[in-house]
Amino acid sequence: MRSHGCGDLRREAIGQTVRLCGWVDRRRDHGGVIFIDLRDRSGTVQITVDPDRGADIFAVAERLRNETVLQVSGTVRARPAASLNERLATGEIEVLAEGLTVLNEVKGNLPFPVSVHDEENTREELRLRHRYLDLRRERMNGNLRLRAHTIQAARRFLEEQGFIEVETPVLTRSTPEGARDYLVPSRVCGGEWFALPQSPQLFKQLLMVGGIERYYQVARCFRDEDLRADRQPEFTQLDMEMSFLDQEQILELNEGLIAAIWKAVKGIELPRPFPRLTWHEAMERYGTDRPDTRYGMELVNVSDLVADMGFKVFSGAVAAGGSVKVLPVPGGNEALSNVRIKPGGDVFGEAQKAGAGGLAFIRVREGGEIDTIGAIKDNLSEEKKAELLARTGAEPGTLLLFGAGDTATVNKALDRVRQFLARELGLVQPERENDVWNFLWVVDFPMFEFNKDENRLEALHHPFCAPNAGDLGSDPERWADTLPTARAQAYDLVLNGLELGGGSLRIHDSALQRQVLATIGLPPAEAERQFGFLIEALDMGAPPHGGLAFGLDRMVMLLAGEESIRDTIAFPKTQQARCLMTQAPADVAPKQLEELHVASTWVEEQARG
Ligand code: AMO
Repeated sequence: MRSHGCGDLRREAIGQTVRLCGWVDRRRDHGGVIFIDLRDRSGTVQITVDPDRGADIFAVAERLRNETVLQVSGTVRARPAASLNERLATGEIEVLAEGLTVLNEVKGNLPFPVSVHDEENTREELRLRHRYLDLRRERMNGNLRLRAHTIQAARRFLEEQGFIEVETPVLTRSTPEGARDYLVPSRVCGGEWFALPQSPQLFKQLLMVGGIERYYQVARCFRDEDLRADRQPEFTQLDMEMSFLDQEQILELNEGLIAAIWKAVKGIELPRPFPRLTWHEAMERYGTDRPDTRYGMELVNVSDLVADMGFKVFSGAVAAGGSVKVLPVPGGNEALSNVRIKPGGDVFGEAQKAGAGGLAFIRVREGGEIDTIGAIKDNLSEEKKAELLARTGAEPGTLLLFGAGDTATVNKALDRVRQFLARELGLVQPERENDVWNFLWVVDFPMFEFNKDENRLEALHHPFCAPNAGDLGSDPERWADTLPTARAQAYDLVLNGLELGGGSLRIHDSALQRQVLATIGLPPAEAERQFGFLIEALDMGAPPHGGLAFGLDRMVMLLAGEESIRDTIAFPKTQQARCLMTQAPADVAPKQLEELHVASTWVEEQARG
């Protein structure tokens, strides 16, 4: 049907007869001559329709609406000097039409214009409802191609390293990755349910027991969790698992993978090795396990300085086992008024959303003088003031924001305020203009964290991570005591404050695996019921192994400079986990439910309110 792509034509083609197919991007009527911008995935080219070349094709051109599917035959010619278009790759030439065939018409109104000129203003709801039109646009089309390119680069690298791609089941049993499961009722085994995998975690470990040694998969995962810009209920991992490698080797190999992707997709040579930070240090200095290191404003712990201070908000927090930390904001005196930091202000609001009661503050003036609400100033000795300024590196003009309370809340609040202020003060570029790539490995995560609501320990990553051997000790009799506070041999890769991926070395000893399951409160019989198949396999020659999974959608989002992973997925779901195009999820015929031995309680739940 066509000889060339619209966007591929250049000066060299002048004089050639070509046949093109594409969509009418727009049509301009220039008193006698009609210009059509014809678009296909390779780009756009100008078609010129001259009435002197035949009344019939001119009549077709006159009626063309945007997005009509058109076949054009004609001759490539140079554009007159006055109408050269430097912004267009094909801007030096045009195609003089000799034949026009409408392959399909647009009937009815288009919900939004497809042409690139109007791209930014369409509501996302409309874009998702008519996703096929949205995909036709340059931006989304480009993002999908970038996604494919990313996967291709990853495959190439991993296969060169001896990895093989293995598919793992989608109908499976629940894997504990911390979210709710999507469940599928079994028709054949009445009353029983499959779960869609939250990740291929257990299967990839079993592939290591199966002697695969190097596995990868572009794996679809399903998690029923609260959605955000960087979370979808159905998303893709670039997942891998390796045998006989230690943590350092796994990190190095993955740096190689990331560098190969960035080189292929962005043409950038990333400096290696990537920096590393322990989890403990990340929490201390940034209040989060995924710090954005593109800017400073590191938190400073001053708990010891203020522990015996007369200002009760501070000393009380320390006495109760919590912390007092400072977020120093260079230039903050000028940029942030008191109104913004006090109740009702936007900075205050950010801290409050993270659970903090408020933000005490000090303004540092010339000569080391400080300016603050009375209670702090009156209770701060000269000596302590000097120490505070030295520790926080405060200069005249610096604003010191204080968080006081239980350590987790202080960290959460100051992390949130730090990120907010980085945007407010212009320390980070909007995603589309970003060309700073701050990769960071966060290592030495704790094995467990305490779940207050359930009054038990739970695995920070998942219960298959291997503990640090030194922390655990070699005496299995003592594991019950040493495990709860042990660090895990687990690592996350953070990029510009976003968790790009994470993994760990795994447990390959059945007794240790049983002990970890016991530590998170699973009674032995329950552990056996849920994970017996894994524990049994560990006893049949499981090699030492470990792995990692990257969030592919997030990776593509950052590579494409997008702010939401929805813009990197062909057919994503909304915040309500709904597909606006197909209207899924939808109800099904009662007969289907009957066959599946399922009855819905939804009507009764609604009636109960
Ligand atoms: P984890 O749960 O950290 O680890 O997931 C790995 C990466 O997947 C991405 N991700 C998501 N992306 C989009 N939407 C979501 N709802 C979502 N949830 C997670 C993140 C994350 O870093 N089995 C382990 C990996 C391992 O130990 O090898 C796992 O799934 O980028």
